[in-house]
Amino acid sequence: MSQRKLYIETVGCQMNMLDSELVVAALRQRGYELVDSAKKADTVLFNTCSVRQHAEDKIYSALGRLKHAKTHNPEKIIGVMGCMAQKDQELIFRRAPYVDLIVGPGQLHQVPDLIEEIQASGQQRMEVSMDRADGTRNDVAQSFESYDPLRDPTMRPTPYQAYVRIMIGCDKFCTYCIVPSVRGPEQSRDPEHILAESRRLADEGCREITLLGQTVNSYRFRHGDGRTTRMADLLHQLHEIDGIDRIKFVTNFPKDMTRELLTAVRDLPKVCQYLHVPAQSGSNDVLNRMKRGYTVEDYREMMTNIREILPNAAVTSDFIVGFCGETEADFEKTVELVRECRFKNSFIFKYSTRPGTKGAELYEDDIPDEVKRRRNNELLAIQNAISEEDNQPFLGRRVEILVEGPSKAAAKADDGQPQLQLTGRTMCDRIVVFEGNRRQIGQILPVDIYDANSFTLFGQIVTQHVGTEVYSLA
Ligand code: 5AD
Ligand code: SF4
Repeated sequence: MSQRKLYIETVGCQMNMLDSELVVAALRQRGYELVDSAKKADTVLFNTCSVRQHAEDKIYSALGRLKHAKTHNPEKIIGVMGCMAQKDQELIFRRAPYVDLIVGPGQLHQVPDLIEEIQASGQQRMEVSMDRADGTRNDVAQSFESYDPLRDPTMRPTPYQAYVRIMIGCDKFCTYCIVPSVRGPEQSRDPEHILAESRRLADEGCREITLLGQTVNSYRFRHGDGRTTRMADLLHQLHEIDGIDRIKFVTNFPKDMTRELLTAVRDLPKVCQYLHVPAQSGSNDVLNRMKRGYTVEDYREMMTNIREILPNAAVTSDFIVGFCGETEADFEKTVELVRECRFKNSFIFKYSTRPGTKGAELYEDDIPDEVKRRRNNELLAIQNAISEEDNQPFLGRRVEILVEGPSKAAAKADDGQPQLQLTGRTMCDRIVVFEGNRRQIGQILPVDIYDANSFTLFGQIVTQHVGTEVYSLA
């Protein structure tokens, strides 16, 4: 039998990227090969996101484009996985009756078997149960069963970098957010499993791990004997792993950013001083309606702690503009917070009402789209100006980067030459573009910075005369 060809499209957060990696690894084991378009594939999978309407619309139009292909080739398997699969369930079959498979985030480990069953029976399949493996129902959309030790370096950002899930679900129930209802309650993963997976990744040549959780700094695992492992403890343990040079963690929840954790970040040189801590708004009225569980004063206090303990840390944030009832005065408070905190960068989103959330139930989505758009652009312009200004002091400085691979432009125009434009990242997650050699990919190297804009530093690799020169790293 000829090899089956798989095309997978992933939208959404890093959790989804990791989920896709695991699904691909499992399918490769069954003899699938990856292809780069839906056209060439006989199995097409979409790993979906429900955080904003736009992400869902994109998937429904991609599905629409496949209708014709399915009519021509009824053998083609089309699957929808992830958050939108969990949220919309049979609605997906109604809107796109030619879809064969719908799988929620907790059942991804079943994908290879489900595809085989569909091939054998010709019947559609849907697996979105919130049941535990033992059959008890407890509204867990995702279980630790969905962890699979199988990894697939070719599906990772690079073979030298990997995501490691340390938590699933979320218990915060921010009123705008669909995540808790599609990913289920918060659960922390056994540190032994996290350590084992990280060691295995290090053995495979991975140098940087990014720990993933919706509120990663809320990590807390209770052992059977009464001990508790918290995020700071976990970082200490992971720090011991030979071969792992960099440890990052996303996304943080402001209220759980303890001084103990910040101190661990300070004391552990492999842990990146890069903290993504979404504020969402600078107005207490809005934060209150969002049910974020903190005030802007709490957020400021957290920033003071960060600046005191980690004066060089890069802090990044997310903001939602145009949340229900957001006045100009509320928005100005957000602007004020952004100006004051000087985030390395911020992701700014227009509020998108999500049916099934408390926000959609309780409040009217009353801010017109053009107002949302204007606020979005205004805040982004302010943030970008700050990012550019704060990148200027890097001019003339030497930084250390992990070389990730060809820059986007170079990857497009790749003619196979050894010398090409490469990108890498500093410990603080700053992107550096430089002329280099393919062999440098995966190495940690010093680079002198000569130019900068809001998003990128431009540098020149420091030529190393092995054994003859010692240079200091700023
Ligand atoms: N509308 C707009 N943005 C949202 N986010 C989450 N839910 C919504 C929504 N309904 C944003 C938050 C979160 C990021 C991942 O997505 O800023 O931090
Ligand atoms: Fe959504 Fe709030 Fe949980 Fe983040 S903390 S996933 S925004 S509910």
